Amino acid sequence: MVKIGVLVGSLSKRAFSLKLAQYITYKEKNLEMLQLDYSSLPLYDPDIDLTNAPVEWVAFRRAVSKVSGLLIVMPEYNLSIPGGLKNALDVISVPKPDLPAQGKPVLVITDSSGSRGGMLANAHLHQVLQNLGAKVLPSYVTVGNVNSILKENRITDDFVDQAIEDQFNQFKSVIFKNIRDQNSKILVTENYLYAKTHLGLLENNKEVGWADLTLLENGSFQIDHVVVKPEDRGKGVAQRVMLLLLSIMESSGLKVVPKCPFARDFIKQHFEYEELAIR
Ligand SMILES: Cc1cc2nc3c(=O)[nH]c(=O)nc-3n(C[C@H](O)[C@H](O)[C@H](O)COP(=O)(O)O)c2cc1C
Repeated sequence: MVKIGVLVGSLSKRAFSLKLAQYITYKEKNLEMLQLDYSSLPLYDPDIDLTNAPVEWVAFRRAVSKVSGLLIVMPEYNLSIPGGLKNALDVISVPKPDLPAQGKPVLVITDSSGSRGGMLANAHLHQVLQNLGAKVLPSYVTVGNVNSILKENRITDDFVDQAIEDQFNQFKSVIFKNIRDQNSKILVTENYLYAKTHLGLLENNKEVGWADLTLLENGSFQIDHVVVKPEDRGKGVAQRVMLLLLSIMESSGLKVVPKCPFARDFIKQHFEYEELAIR
């Protein structure tokens, strides 16, 4: 399952930002949402980073580099980003050029008890994230009057609730597209033979596995079978055939109908491909 890192900008156990983040993450079924704890990160100091980077920095950088996107929910502190979170962002702003947040989609949500919902902090965070090379979603999602809107750990204002859901769905689409784009590199690394209703994966010019397809009247391709030669089983060949097939279909603007159980399960387990499938 695709993993998303969640950063909550307040360290308070009773924080509205925490409740807001929990409300969003509990509802999510197709992503694994992991809260990343930055509260014990030592203050960033370039001098020690050069010689002896603390293990907390190393682990945090690694955790951020492993997730496919970040959701940041934070309050506004003194018209800007809370200091603890800013320290965590400074930690992942080095070492260049392999920044942990580079190219990752990020959704920013700010909240405050005032009516502006932390708009200034939101804008500041956008700027910082761009500097980290992240793909920050352009919208400024702000939740004003958070103390009256959040009741019993849920958003009671339908308009705000819907707005957050819409933004989160957009965030998911960007993440899934990002993953598919990364996976589509398979098109240049694999050797294959594609002839309309047959896609064969080649190794040393021999077919090790293939997918049989049927072209349907609506222009999509039904996946009838995914087959692996007996001697090549147990090596992930069928997965590679599926990735290859889905990458070809997406780059051609086509959809698939996964008839064979393996293809159906593959798409179920790789939810990032769900939007290519017609059920
Ligand atoms: C140190 C500090 C600074 C704050 N500065 C601002 C601010 O600049 N603008 C604002 O709207 N609210 C400000 N607030 C209020 C918080 O945004 C608001 O109380 C928020 O709900 C608290 O966040 P939390 O419940 O997620 O911890 C500040 C709160 C604290 C503790």
